[in-house]
Amino acid sequence: MDKNTNIHPATRIVTREDKEKLLNQRAKVIWLTGLSGSGKTTLGVKLEAELHKHGFLTVLLDGDNIRAGLNRNIGFGLEDRLENIRRVAEVSKLFLNTGVITINCFITPTKAIRDLAKDIIGRDDYIEIYVNAPLDVCEQRDIKGLYDKARKGLIKNFTGIDSPFEPPHNPDLEVQTDKLSPEESLRKILDFILPQITCEH
Ligand code: ADX
Repeated sequence: MDKNTNIHPATRIVTREDKEKLLNQRAKVIWLTGLSGSGKTTLGVKLEAELHKHGFLTVLLDGDNIRAGLNRNIGFGLEDRLENIRRVAEVSKLFLNTGVITINCFITPTKAIRDLAKDIIGRDDYIEIYVNAPLDVCEQRDIKGLYDKARKGLIKNFTGIDSPFEPPHNPDLEVQTDKLSPEESLRKILDFILPQITCEH
């Protein structure tokens, strides 16, 4: 063993590039940000299914699932949201270095929180997609009934009601889910993503 690095001298480290070559893809972290009910998870699930069909290895991380396990001790104050996203970004980086395409569906409500994710992952590997639907549209959809509860004061710190959402100013891509059908939004994302994850031969 090499005492300084703890790396066996005869062992060549298997790099991210080696793993990307094995998988025949380029790894990226695709980060969907937007209000609750804007369509992040709907699009994330469709995107993953489509990429899978094209032969890409992906992982889908989303707020509800991560908060039921890894981050079950995390709440919805801004400090907690920062810690939620910090951990998700660190996990994403592990996947990135394994060559896996990560699709993240998290509100990620403020610039500071998104900047933290971007810094951890690295600008070149972080693709920010703003899933944009106006608050009143998300509230009308109210798929989980949470806006109703938040308006009644039964849930505190709800994004868009009594907790901030700062729209991203310069996302890499924006999809307006109140104007586009889910299929059109998906097409727009795919057209943007596919060239960035496809290996040239
Ligand atoms: S984030 O702000 O830290 O990025 P995250 O995406 O993980 O949020 O979790 C958001 C999900 O948690 C929502 O889709 C919703 O189902 C649920 N939720 C429960 N309480 C709140 C709240 N106070 N604000 C926003 N979402 C909440």
